[in-house]
Amino acid sequence: MRGRFITFEGIDGAGKSSHIEALAGWLRQHGHRVLQTREPGGTPMAEVVRELVLHKPMDALTESLLVFAARRDHLESVIEPALAAGTTVLCDRFTDATFAYQGGGRGFDRAVLAQLEAWVQNGRQPDLTLWFDVSPEVAAARRAVAREPDRFEAEKAAFFDRVRAGYAARAAGAPERIVRIDASGSLEDVWARVLAVAQARHAGGGP
Ligand code: TMP
Repeated sequence: MRGRFITFEGIDGAGKSSHIEALAGWLRQHGHRVLQTREPGGTPMAEVVRELVLHKPMDALTESLLVFAARRDHLESVIEPALAAGTTVLCDRFTDATFAYQGGGRGFDRAVLAQLEAWVQNGRQPDLTLWFDVSPEVAAARRAVAREPDRFEAEKAAFFDRVRAGYAARAAGAPERIVRIDASGSLEDVWARVLAVAQARHAGGGP
């Protein structure tokens, strides 16, 4: 049986990382083989691209081409083989992030992004996407206690308003795939929401 492909999205500071970790543990306890990976990144080549995208100045088209190039390598060499082997793949960000950040945040042409998506993914989409939705104000407060900001984290609140709207538009276009998780409140509250979705969507699934 093919593995399930689950992705995690949200503006920087939405707090998805600890929940990915917790969900991986929960799935393993339930007998699933789990691969945790991330974008941009997940292969040696894509991790090099990540460094460029996060730290070097570039325009929105260059950014989009780079994240899709990294995605192609990641899909071909890591994600597809894992799914084919029956492994559940948990990926921290995927193409919804490109529509939200490059399309929403940067205002880049979504029709071009859709063309790149079609070339790179050849119809492949995640089976389930958890969108951690939180206001830019709450996210900024969470980021303030974290690390040195990268090119995206250094952006102003208005940028994250546009990214959030970009996620909302993607979610509206794929309501069966993208589940909005209210990411405000405590870690425990948010985890309870994540678990409820996992139980509803994963019940009865094999490893
Ligand atoms: P992370 O720190 O959550 O791993 O995300 C890396 C940053 O890259 C985050 O600010 C969002 C950004 N990003 C894009 O702009 N486009 C993309 O396609 C992806 C996957 C991430």
